[in-house]
Amino acid sequence: MSASLQWGGRFALQPDAALLAFGSSLADDGVLAAYDVRCSLAHVGALAEGGVIDAPCAQALRTALHRVAAEIADGDFAAWARASGAEDVHGAIDARVRELAPDAGAWLHAGRSRNDQVATTLALYARARAEDGARVTLAIARMLGTAAQDEAAAGTLLAATTHWQPAQPVLLAFWLAAAAEPFARSASRFIAARDGAARACALGSGAVAGSTLPLARGSAAAELGFAAPSRNAMDAIGTRDAALDTAHAFVRATLDASRVAEELVLWATPAFGYVRIGDASATGSSLMPQKRNPDAFELVRGGASEVLGYYTGALSSLAGLGLSYHRDLQQTKRVLLLAIERGAAMLEAFARALADVTFVRERMAARAGDGCTVATDVADALIAAGCSARDAHALVGERVRAADEAGRALDAGDLARLAAAIGVQALAAPLCAQASVEAKATAGSTAPGAVAASLAELAREIDMLEAQL
Ligand code: ARG
Repeated sequence: MSASLQWGGRFALQPDAALLAFGSSLADDGVLAAYDVRCSLAHVGALAEGGVIDAPCAQALRTALHRVAAEIADGDFAAWARASGAEDVHGAIDARVRELAPDAGAWLHAGRSRNDQVATTLALYARARAEDGARVTLAIARMLGTAAQDEAAAGTLLAATTHWQPAQPVLLAFWLAAAAEPFARSASRFIAARDGAARACALGSGAVAGSTLPLARGSAAAELGFAAPSRNAMDAIGTRDAALDTAHAFVRATLDASRVAEELVLWATPAFGYVRIGDASATGSSLMPQKRNPDAFELVRGGASEVLGYYTGALSSLAGLGLSYHRDLQQTKRVLLLAIERGAAMLEAFARALADVTFVRERMAARAGDGCTVATDVADALIAAGCSARDAHALVGERVRAADEAGRALDAGDLARLAAAIGVQALAAPLCAQASVEAKATAGSTAPGAVAASLAELAREIDMLEAQL
């Protein structure tokens, strides 16, 4: 029997090596190592305070655990753990402590199960990663918000699309703010996930029913920064809510990034030419010497599906699972960790690539009016002059068809014909992109004043969220 295994007494035969290897989570749960040490240190405190272990034993355990923490930080621990034959990172740390302090080490697992250990460790990890997620999404929101302020000052115009077809002129600042808003929402989702993960501490729940040992659960919970010990041991060891909520926040934020990435990929094509991706973030082709590819944004675009896939895997592995611990939860954990780690990597990459994008203002502005994008404003002018919406739509549609056939934009002649058609003297309607944007009158619109107001509010919200980090 491997000294690293935490069980064995009740078996007459050795475990099957292949099945043991199949059941190992060591290859997946290494990212939890440092959190396990913190969790183990808190458990030592709970044991000592409850009088289960004496002060010298507690001291020896703490010294060993600090040594393991240093080995984890140095990157030395992973190889030791792999060679140890332990089933998971928790077993490996326990084994290393027993190697470093054989007498005291034999007491570390008193009153504890890997079930409460996994749950606590995962919650600590989720809390830290959710905070990372909040930080990066706020940085992205701020970057987009700042770029929006710059473009608002420059007055850069853009043809907004729906269905990728020219729709209405907007300020580029408006587009940037539209890209920023979801990241602010994502940041508050991350903060909620972080706070949710800090609510209840599973440590001291044992395998499922609590412990007969007098573990000082309140002190352990406080030491680890939880609001309180969990209320129900069975729920505490069976739930994966903290990691799920954090993974969900990563899924949502990577979806936000993916949608912006898609537009930037398109805008970087010569056909659009709206943005230039800096040399440091673009990539070349091994064959075509002229190529300048937006790979980082493409990977982020596709990567959102990868993160969603892991998250969906985690959700599906929970369906139908009983309340308590089942080994299936190891599978849940594997994909949750992947969702969170990959999601974090995506957002970091997206933030870097985004910082290297420059907007080709003239090109965007030159096309903002193409495709009769002022047609809706002209129809609005008819409505304001007393024409019904349906008639206005039909009348302007006819003018658009005529303009299209003549290969020109809507012009003053069209306005005069429309005025005559509804029996008014003249019709005042914006005919260029600039006038269209300035004519918008609703809150939340692309009008320069509305955009400035929304950006100021967004900046305040970002400050308020940042104060919670
Ligand atoms: N490697 C396991 C996991 O990650 C640890 C918990 C094992 N618990 C058990 N009762 N076998 O879920």
